[in-house]
Amino acid sequence: MPITRKLGLGAVVMSMTLGSMAFAAEPLTDAELQAAVLAGGCAGCHGTDGNLSGLSSRSASVLERQLLNFKYERVPSTVMTRIAKGFTDDEIGEIARYFAQLDAR
Ligand code: HEC
Repeated sequence: MPITRKLGLGAVVMSMTLGSMAFAAEPLTDAELQAAVLAGGCAGCHGTDGNLSGLSSRSASVLERQLLNFKYERVPSTVMTRIAKGFTDDEIGEIARYFAQLDAR
């Protein structure tokens, strides 16, 4: 079961990554590709409808602050604190900017 779940998430990451590559006018930079891969893990819980249950409809600074609030236990959380602790503050910034720019495309 854990293996199946891992493969499922991997497929989501791959399809998001390939999707971005197919629709981007310019090839993705390494930094953009890394952000897409980091953000791919969120889809498992927040959905793959291209909007990630509203995650992409807020500004990068708002999303970054929310994720840092989870990481540093400033807001109540069941799983997001554990997830956010898995990223450096810089990576959280990259993830936030990635979701914010999805809207701009
Ligand atoms: C294991 C499932 C799971 C994964 C993976 C996950 N989340 Fe969450 N997320 C939740 C749950 C559950 C909540 C509600 C808060 C809580 O209890 O932790 C939440 C809440 C949030 C919120 C605040 C609610 C809102 O809509 O404003 C944000 C922002 C968020 N998640 C972003 C992310 C991002 C970005 C990622 C990827 C780095 C991610 N989540 C990965 C389950 C998940």
